[in-house]
Amino acid sequence: MHAVVLVGGFGTRLRPLTFTTPKPLLPVGNLALLERLMTSLARGGVTHAVLSLGFKPEPFLKAFPTNICGGVELSYAVEDRPLDTAGAIGFAARQAGIHKRGETFVVANGDVITDLDIAELIAFHRASKAQGTIHLTPVADPSQYGVVEAQSNGKIIRFVEKPKVGETLSRHVNGGTYIFEASALERMPGTAPLSIERVTFPEMADAGVLYALATNDYWIDAGRPDTYVRCNVELLSRKSIYKVEPVDANATIDPSAVITQSVIGEGCVVGQGAQIIRSVLLSGAKVDANAVVIDSAVMGHVGAFAQVASCLIGADGDVNSGAVIRDAKIPDPS
Ligand code: GDD
Ligand code: MG
Repeated sequence: MHAVVLVGGFGTRLRPLTFTTPKPLLPVGNLALLERLMTSLARGGVTHAVLSLGFKPEPFLKAFPTNICGGVELSYAVEDRPLDTAGAIGFAARQAGIHKRGETFVVANGDVITDLDIAELIAFHRASKAQGTIHLTPVADPSQYGVVEAQSNGKIIRFVEKPKVGETLSRHVNGGTYIFEASALERMPGTAPLSIERVTFPEMADAGVLYALATNDYWIDAGRPDTYVRCNVELLSRKSIYKVEPVDANATIDPSAVITQSVIGEGCVVGQGAQIIRSVLLSGAKVDANAVVIDSAVMGHVGAFAQVASCLIGADGDVNSGAVIRDAKIPDPS
């Protein structure tokens, strides 16, 4: 089975981390987000995936030189301008020849971490004879997601992207994994920007051909600073289909440093008496003696005795010794 994986966004919310590493290549538990996603797709029967990109594929070619990722064979479809989600699917699916094969295919947002069993979603899609099926997940606050109202048999009545307060009572949101019949591509020509969430899904709901399956599987969109850090931390303590490597073998950690619920990447250096709490140190990060890092992701350097809370520190980021910072992005991407 073929899949289109959407990875063309600019990862704006995760800047400055994404200035040097595209969002799908950021690690979660020391394995690229994309590799976790591909492993899960492969488990559901996906053999080929086309990565839908809005920028050059070089970082992906470098990360996966054999074009195999998580057991799936990769190809690339590069847009010369952002085509938005439905435009991107239409373009990438045609590049990969999916429209000609006329087969059922999978689409996945590239920033989602989930234990969803794709095979279960495919089986539900086939049983309901849908043209498209969306995986749903329950959330407390739906304002940052696409909200779905559906009948008890799964038929979607309404799809509202990023609703305003009071616009819908549903708390089931689009989990970013879809199954489509090839005929759905007629709705996605791939020649101009088109949003699947704002145009195609509402149209398919009106036509009565869009279904949804809600599951309680672990699910998180890792594309925001708080959720990116949180999914790393949560992977440490839960049973998952994904394996986690909390501390890379090639990290140098002073024996007096305290590492609590954190992920430490390759080549990181943590100095004497430093404390790393519920955080991610990405490959190459350096935290000097007695610094404290809490709820943060660090690629760059944190000086001695600095205190860093709820921050993203990019590869060029340098927190001065003794500085106390909270809710900051360094260097400031704006
Ligand atoms: N190729 C390409 N071209 N990909 C794109 C483009 C584009 O122009 N725009 C966005 N993408 C990709 C992003 O890289 C990401 O993988 C995916 O499409 C979704 O975009 P996000 O920017 O992450 O959207 P979101 O998180 O605000 O909302 C989406 O995901 C939610 C679940 O996490 C929507 O699909 C919501 O309905 C959904 O609930
Ligand atoms: Mg997202």
